Amino acid sequence: MEVIILPTKEAGSNKAAEIFKYCIRKNPSIILGLATGSTPLPLYESLIQNYTDGSLDFSQVTSFNLDEYVGVSPNHQASYAYFMKENFFNHINIKPENTFIPYGKAKNIPDHCKDYETLIKDKGGIDIQLLGIGTDGHIGFNEPTSSLASRTRIKTLTRQTIEDNARFFDGKIDDVPKHVITMGIGTIMESKHVILLGFGKNKAQAIKDTIEGPLTASIPASILQTHEQATIIVDEEAASKLDRCDYYKWVYNNRPAWQRGPEDLCPKK
Ligand code: GLP
Repeated sequence: MEVIILPTKEAGSNKAAEIFKYCIRKNPSIILGLATGSTPLPLYESLIQNYTDGSLDFSQVTSFNLDEYVGVSPNHQASYAYFMKENFFNHINIKPENTFIPYGKAKNIPDHCKDYETLIKDKGGIDIQLLGIGTDGHIGFNEPTSSLASRTRIKTLTRQTIEDNARFFDGKIDDVPKHVITMGIGTIMESKHVILLGFGKNKAQAIKDTIEGPLTASIPASILQTHEQATIIVDEEAASKLDRCDYYKWVYNNRPAWQRGPEDLCPKK
């Protein structure tokens, strides 16, 4: 696990953008795993900026999103399909047919989930999976006590996540769907490189539990302790509860010269 602590959300987002840009240029047909929520927005803005100035090309890129609300159509403003179009896809030259998001209105959800898994495998697997983190330590929509070996499937949200996400439904808690489709923890763990972003005080406990807590299904993100290549990028606020904060900074600041470029953070497999 590589822990990168930077002063602000902006600096953390820039670091993540640097890695993404380098890896997309190195492998133009890269398979990206993408996330929603407020956390990745500055990263998407930065990638859009580079597409606009002609320095980044998404024409061969494929993407798979982590999750979607059940029963919500892709045209609904709170759907993750809508979110991705509004905040990223509509502003770059990724081909719509190369962007995959679980379909919240699928008639047969178990079959749809199986097909999603098959598609990820058929495309060659995810090279870089971007993750945010829920205040309860969830990744994707894998809530606490999700099986650490789980695959794409339907999940029921916790009350806390429903409350956290009501902001995307005009603050109306009752409008937030209780069910979602999410890539499983086992699915996420098969990505060659995982980059988790955590910013702000309200993520400090989840980040502490993820990095330093015991490995437990009660904190789904703690599974990343066992991933071969997981990079956790946090700001000072999100890092504020870490016991070994100074050590992580020491490690980062004393990297050997050959580990200092973004190439070291590209998928190694
Ligand atoms: C949702 C998403 C997660 C995201 C989390 C945090 O639950 N399913 O993928 O990481 O929200 O959102 P935010 O980044 O807005 O704090």
